[in-house]
Amino acid sequence: MFITFEGMDGSGKTTQIAELTAYLRQHHHRVLTTREPGGTAIGDQIRAVLLDNKESAEMHPHAELLLFCASRAQLVGQVILPHLQAGGVVICDRFIDSTYAYQGYGHGLNLDTLRHIITFATGGLLPDVTIFLDISPRKALERRAKATLFGDEYNRLDDMALPFHEKVYAGYQNLILAQPDRFIVVDADATPDVVQTRIRAALAPYLQLPMPPSEPPRAPKSSSKQKTAPIKKKAPRKDNLS
Ligand code: TYD
Repeated sequence: MFITFEGMDGSGKTTQIAELTAYLRQHHHRVLTTREPGGTAIGDQIRAVLLDNKESAEMHPHAELLLFCASRAQLVGQVILPHLQAGGVVICDRFIDSTYAYQGYGHGLNLDTLRHIITFATGGLLPDVTIFLDISPRKALERRAKATLFGDEYNRLDDMALPFHEKVYAGYQNLILAQPDRFIVVDADATPDVVQTRIRAALAPYLQLPMPPSEPPRAPKSSSKQKTAPIKKKAPRKDNLS
């Protein structure tokens, strides 16, 4: 099963993925955790180019897109597909939706062109489930600013103002509306423990996990769609453009 995490920078993906990985391993799933850009020796070199504050300051948006997709092609071929084909669970910190959200909706690159390039890079592989950690762009930026103040490395892609992040967030909302069966929206404006409980509850039907004790009921968000139906183990999913 292929699970991806998406969200604004500062939405807490890294912490949540680490917790979830440990939890799934306790429940005897063979979990491989990876991230984009990066996740392979080649991808890590591409990541360094993408995030470099000095040398890459003038990077052309098309070059940026192709580098993200080059890193992705390597990751899919070398790491993700082999693990899925061996029956394991792959958790990836960002995948195709980041490219649509950041390069497409954020930077304004043509979405059809993106789809062709992304599909070429992935061979049409799609996640079975995508967890969107939902916090507002403003909150995300505040969290990111705090993290960099307390030692997280500041990189080239952090250097974007609120209006850009608002476009990215609106882009994610469009993606979620267009593919409600694949996305699970998790309200991430809570303590890490609460967010983790929400993620476990959302994934329980897919991975034969115990349902964690439920939270007090909340008003549903209009854009959220929580899925409950389990999906069966199957061959890696492909989109229809390959
Ligand atoms: P990273 O430091 O990994 O941030 P995060 O913890 O938020 O994932 O940096 C990744 C940055 O790259 C992040 O700002 C999102 C951006 N990105 C794109 O613009 N397009 C993409 O296709 C991907 C995978 C990431």
